[in-house]
Amino acid sequence: MTSTNDIRRSFLDYFEGQGHARVPSAPLVPHNDPTLMFVNAGMVPFKNVFTGLETRPYSTATSSQKCVRAGGKHNDLDNVGYTARHHTFFEMLGNFSFGDYFKEQAITHAWTLLTREWGLSPDKLTATVYHTDDQAFELWKKIAGLPEERIIRIPTKDNFWAMGSDGPCGPCSEIFYDHGDHIWGGPPGSPEEDGDRFVEIWNLVFMQYLQENDEIVSELPRPSIDTGMGLERVAAVLQGVHDNYDIDVFKALIAESGALTGASTTGEHQASHRVIADHLRSAGFLVADGVLPANEGRGYVLRRIMRRAMRHAHILGAKEPLMYRMVPSLVAEMGGAYPELVRAQPLIEATLLQEETRFRQTLANGLKLLDEATSGMGEGDTLSGETAFKLYDTYGFPYDLTEDALRPQGMAVDRDGFDAAMKRQKDAARAAWKGSGAKASDDVWFDIAEELGGTEFTGYTATDGEGQVVAIVKDGARVEKAGQGDEVVILTNQTPFYGESGGQMGDAGVISGDRVKAAVSDTSKPLGRLHAHQAVIESGELAVGDTVKLAIDVARRDAIRANHSATHLLHAALRNRLGGHVTQKGSLVAPDRLRFDFSHPSALTAQEIADIEAEVNAEIRANEAVSTRLMTPDDAVAAGALALFGEKYGDEVRVLSMGRQTDKRYSVELCGGTHVRATGDIAVFKIISESAVSSGVRRIEALTGEAARLWLADRDAKLREVAASLKTSPDEVAARVVALVEERRKLEKELAEAKKALALGGGAGAAAPAGPEQIGGVNFVGQIIDGLDPKALRGAVDEAKGRIGSGVVAFVAVNEGRAAIAVGVTDDLTGSLSAVELVKRGVAALGGQGGGGRPDMAQGGGPEGNNGPAAIEAVKGALAEEKEAA
Ligand code: SER
Repeated sequence: MTSTNDIRRSFLDYFEGQGHARVPSAPLVPHNDPTLMFVNAGMVPFKNVFTGLETRPYSTATSSQKCVRAGGKHNDLDNVGYTARHHTFFEMLGNFSFGDYFKEQAITHAWTLLTREWGLSPDKLTATVYHTDDQAFELWKKIAGLPEERIIRIPTKDNFWAMGSDGPCGPCSEIFYDHGDHIWGGPPGSPEEDGDRFVEIWNLVFMQYLQENDEIVSELPRPSIDTGMGLERVAAVLQGVHDNYDIDVFKALIAESGALTGASTTGEHQASHRVIADHLRSAGFLVADGVLPANEGRGYVLRRIMRRAMRHAHILGAKEPLMYRMVPSLVAEMGGAYPELVRAQPLIEATLLQEETRFRQTLANGLKLLDEATSGMGEGDTLSGETAFKLYDTYGFPYDLTEDALRPQGMAVDRDGFDAAMKRQKDAARAAWKGSGAKASDDVWFDIAEELGGTEFTGYTATDGEGQVVAIVKDGARVEKAGQGDEVVILTNQTPFYGESGGQMGDAGVISGDRVKAAVSDTSKPLGRLHAHQAVIESGELAVGDTVKLAIDVARRDAIRANHSATHLLHAALRNRLGGHVTQKGSLVAPDRLRFDFSHPSALTAQEIADIEAEVNAEIRANEAVSTRLMTPDDAVAAGALALFGEKYGDEVRVLSMGRQTDKRYSVELCGGTHVRATGDIAVFKIISESAVSSGVRRIEALTGEAARLWLADRDAKLREVAASLKTSPDEVAARVVALVEERRKLEKELAEAKKALALGGGAGAAAPAGPEQIGGVNFVGQIIDGLDPKALRGAVDEAKGRIGSGVVAFVAVNEGRAAIAVGVTDDLTGSLSAVELVKRGVAALGGQGGGGRPDMAQGGGPEGNNGPAAIEAVKGALAEEKEAA
């Protein structure tokens, strides 16, 4: 038997052998179509190549594209499990020509692969063409030799394929395989076509036109080819089975759920096993592509898929979570072709386990309610919308799960009643909001969130992508359009722009479209649900409904990521080094720096700071991948996450783990922010300050990456500059500075000595000593000494007194504009003269007040440093007066 893996490989090998570029599957989350929930056809990633908006280095390509049809326009969720060919996840094999070959070559390739390479009997194959496409009709006759009755003209939309109401489209030709007359059904176009005998296996689309609003508006730049073949269907054909769920991949997964639950895989439990196998594939691939369960957007679709499977696990009698135990089988079957599945295996398992653990807790209660509510009901009855809403609201049963649970008993759900109950709840929330005293200016956000739902954030994995403008707010009010120069807030259905929260600053970047360019300076997050892009329209015009490209400033975000992850490492290092009392008190994560406030009673020592810095850098160099999980707050704490008391968390938290693993990861924290992929992306961590914020709260400011490098480079440049002016090398600067300080101290001392000596009229090299003057028969020495330390003034006066033997000495020391004065009177004269009285006159001359001491020595000072001579004269005058009076 040819395995599904072999079939996929042989398809790609064939087209690669025919010169097609082998293109890996794009992620399930479409990057080029904001209104598309998930990639649902092989051509989606090439949409812009067909229309000519984008060019690639190849003109033909082949791929095996992951597709999900659940949620949004193509929603097969409800049918899965009950039919032979519905899947939420499937693979589409395709070959594409972007203006290279057209119909003839496309048909030739398809026919060659099916009949020659794969050996299908031509008798089993039938083709359809669009009713007016004579050319395709003739080509099938010519190339395949199909008889005319097996080339069927179809006049309906079935043979005119369009991506959506907008986008490339064209007539198509489908190839059907006849599973044989033991199965009921007729060829396409016949009254029995809905039977299962004839199965479409390959669709060849002759892409020629561009549609807008379901109208053909133009021709594509060049006629192109898009083909799509469901791998599961063709595998069924090549493996000789009729039912997709009987192919090898599904058999393996179903055998696993059978083994794990002990429930028979046939009979009444068949549908449940199929649901589980299918949904496991969707869930696994969606998680691998970055979607995690959530309460809105794609995450909610994923949650619905998971919960539907989990309800079926319950039906099978699983006593504990089942899905996560099946992931190894999924990886064994499909990990070879999709390495992302292998990489994400731990995350897929953890996410499924967490979701199933939680869901099991509410499932039992919900099903009990459902049983009670339906006890008096029978086939053909309808469950009230009110009850369905209660199941949704209280027990987390998505609407379609309730519908699915009732289907086997032939019961339906009142959808209108459900919607009405939902509306009543929203109205009540609105009334509560109005009554809560919320700011009137916030009404606009509340209205938008209520009407349009929250913004789906795609920025954990993407840095750009498309979005649809759902609202524009100008001067606090909603507007339909904005033009050049307008300052507006732009809201889109999805965005990679992070809205400021949890200390992390919002993203900046560009929003652009065919006819508009807007610069986004910041993104906020009103009500915690909307991502509000603060923007200026730089050119053109923007209107609600426009599809735009949103691109964040990646360098800025990368710097923010590094700083955010570094705060987690810092937090862990602080707790390791200082103790478990350290808790986060606040943080700021900006592109150029980070700030982290934490509880700790005293300043950190230089050694502590150095140790913390070293520890963080060691984790950075270990370069371990950062991982994200969703958990309940309790599970998160059990996993070692730091519980942040006093903060409110929902029933589900993101848990960020980073650093090396010992008994647990180095850092485990609850966090909604954006982070590096591996700690090595932080590059380097440098603490630049540590200070007090308030009593018991310290603050560390630090840099990472390029900012840290620039800071270190700047420090180095300054050091070199200092070294150059000291005429030494940076290594010698410290010793040189110590020596200089020492030298300076010595010189200052010597200088003071010299000044003193000078004042005393002696000392080596001083001018010849001036002899004392005689005032009223008393020896008097007066001098002004610039720069003499006022503390040295008394010593100088004492020495001068000793030298003159008997008399009065008055010295003024002038420093930086201020003057200090000291007057000394030798002991023999203190009976008739008081130094205190004399100095007071000098102080007054210096613009000061008072002056005091003892009769033999008194001091004072004043601000008028220039008046030194006047102060000496004043003392002299006072001395003369005293003497005259005596
Ligand atoms: N786009 C077409 C389809 O999805 C052929 O690939 O059927």
